[in-house]
Amino acid sequence: MKQSLIEAIGGVAAMERVHKAFYDKVYAHAWLGPFFEGYSQKLIELRQTQFMARKMGAKQMYPVKDLDVVHHRMYITEELLLVREGLLRETIEEEGIALNLVARWLKIDRAFWSRVQKGSLDEFKKIDLKNEQALIVERPED
Ligand code: HEM
Repeated sequence: MKQSLIEAIGGVAAMERVHKAFYDKVYAHAWLGPFFEGYSQKLIELRQTQFMARKMGAKQMYPVKDLDVVHHRMYITEELLLVREGLLRETIEEEGIALNLVARWLKIDRAFWSRVQKGSLDEFKKIDLKNEQALIVERPED
């Protein structure tokens, strides 16, 4: 039987290590970090692993939340997604995962970008967030 991607990368344990190191970088990042203020890093790591492991063929239970809804109030641009992807790529490579598997992982991740990505700031400001507060983080100066 063909090996699933989650098995090929070293199982859920390998993914847990990647996500721990990845969110260490994300939480410390000047642009990405502020989005996560107030959210438990441990819980985010757990949810991300449950979500992605399942997409890679693991039989994990995931209490499904709609990604559009979860990221609704966040002003997430393509540029920001590319910064996040850079950190994710770096972290997966540091785990020693083969490059072809890194590419497969990132392809699955990219499949969800359209659920979280917003257009221009003007368009974003027109979205009716009801009583949610918009979460906009300006790109810090380099
Ligand atoms: C730069 C882009 C992104 C930012 C700033 C971001 C930020 C966040 C934040 C702040 C949360 C916590 C929200 C909450 O618990 O209410 C969250 C949850 C989550 N995000 Fe993202 N996210 C991004 C991209 C993505 C992408 C591309 C994916 C999927 C591949 C993803 C998957 C998830 C999942 C699975 C959760 C947990 C949802 C749950 O609790 O059920 N995120 N994200």
